[in-house]
Amino acid sequence: MITGATSGIGREMAFALAGLNYSIILVGRNEKKCQTTRKKIIKRSGNKQINFLTADFSDLSRIRNLANEFIKKYPKLDILINNAGVYLMNRSVSVDGYEKTFAVNHLAHFLLTNLLLEKLKTSPAARIINVSSMAHDKRNIDFDDLLYEKNYNGLNAYSRSKLANILFTYELARLLKDTKITVNAFHPGFIATNFGRNNGLIRFVLRRLIKRGALTPAEGADTGIYLATSEEVDQVSGKYFVNKKAVNSSTESYDENLAKELWNKSRELTGL
Ligand SMILES: NC(=O)c1ccc[n+]([C@@H]2O[C@H](COP(=O)([O-])OP(=O)(O)OC[C@H]3O[C@@H](n4cnc5c(N)ncnc54)[C@H](OP(=O)(O)O)[C@@H]3O)[C@@H](O)[C@H]2O)c1
Repeated sequence: MITGATSGIGREMAFALAGLNYSIILVGRNEKKCQTTRKKIIKRSGNKQINFLTADFSDLSRIRNLANEFIKKYPKLDILINNAGVYLMNRSVSVDGYEKTFAVNHLAHFLLTNLLLEKLKTSPAARIINVSSMAHDKRNIDFDDLLYEKNYNGLNAYSRSKLANILFTYELARLLKDTKITVNAFHPGFIATNFGRNNGLIRFVLRRLIKRGALTPAEGADTGIYLATSEEVDQVSGKYFVNKKAVNSSTESYDENLAKELWNKSRELTGL
């Protein structure tokens, strides 16, 4: 299962895994876009085992429906790639009333992963892969204003959500250490995708930056494909990767107390 599979890095990971003959569940928020992506992938790869499920990640009830639908339809899950993400220059709130960057990038994936854990345990060796970013090292988690009710700043909110992805990865790896499920995170590089293009001025800035050497979505997918398929990482869990290499993430990301507090708060906010 790949979330955010209708664009950018998620779609490229789907193209690549389809080419390797995996059965894939694309997850997107827009049914038409899911259909088009599915058709393109089938046409390009010849692999017909491509299906999709829809859910808007800014609505936790849709995440519960998504997990239930998957559990009903499919016997097992081998690989979960938590990739969908947003950058929002102006603060907005999710259906559940939470700051949207944190809701989509962290809370929705926290809930989805937990709801699918039993399914993942039915696989002989499941892998969970979380798409984070090197931007995670710009912020810490501030539990006094976790939902950015004061002093919203798009970049800070994004950085915090990407730090949450890594704290979640490490805490989940600790909790799953006696299972056959591995969980890792990665930074895809600076990639020319649709990312952040819903944000007026930032469109312009992004276009300029992209001209100055952003990588292609296929290059951005590389480390994700490696984590999903390589035998080199079949026993590796609780690591952060850049360019297919495990590297150190920020000092804050290794704070186990912070990770536990975030886990408990996320449980509370998602009603898990
Ligand atoms: N591009 C970079 O340089 C870069 C760098 C570091 C990390 N990342 C991370 O890479 C991941 C993928 O980003 P990308 O660059 O491929 O961007 P993208 O082209 O904008 O793709 C983002 C995907 O997330 C989906 N999405 C956004 N909001 C959603 C919502 N509310 N509900 C469900 N799906 C939603 C989008 O759906 P639609 O197709 O419907 O819009 C799209 O499929 C993100 O987690 C991002 O943080 C990107």
